[in-house]
Amino acid sequence: MKGLFCVSAGISSIFLINSCGQTTTPDNKQAEIDSLKTVIAELKPGLGEFMLQIKYHHDSLGKAINQKDYDRAAYEVDELKETTEKIQQLNITNDKLQKPFPIFFDKYLQGPLNTLADAAAKKDEASLKTNFISLTENCNSCHHENNMGFMKIVP
Ligand code: HEC
Repeated sequence: MKGLFCVSAGISSIFLINSCGQTTTPDNKQAEIDSLKTVIAELKPGLGEFMLQIKYHHDSLGKAINQKDYDRAAYEVDELKETTEKIQQLNITNDKLQKPFPIFFDKYLQGPLNTLADAAAKKDEASLKTNFISLTENCNSCHHENNMGFMKIVP
């Protein structure tokens, strides 16, 4: 079958003769790269999926603070950091985002997450409580700024 295809393709165009040759021709490599890029794009989680992880860790952090479970609080802050790092590493974009995610990360998440990590390490309950409220407010500010104001997060 393959031979037959190559012969008939060979008659119709030089380009196809090349594509029936070694699999390492630049054209084939490019096609492989393109198809892998498509697969990667299809497998990449969307911003909404990351947000669900963020919501889980946000809520778990709130519970840990209420229970004065500082180790768990430190863990959840770390998970929030990791999840937001992933969004940045994978260049996750979304048609709702008015600017690239890292700009919103710097504006809304970086400060509260660093302060919360510090407060959890010091077992500083007052600081954890105040900064957790700031974090939740910032979730909502970013939602508001990206036409997602209806997505209200509660502490
Ligand atoms: C970049 C600004 C931004 C920040 C900061 C942000 N969000 Fe979001 N969030 C969005 C956008 C945009 C969407 C809509 C995603 C989509 O289209 O699927 C969203 C969606 C969500 C959703 C709905 C997900 C779904 O698929 O149903 C939840 C839950 C959520 N965010 C929680 C949070 C929490 C909790 C925080 C704070 C810790 C937070 N977000 C911080 C921009 C942000």
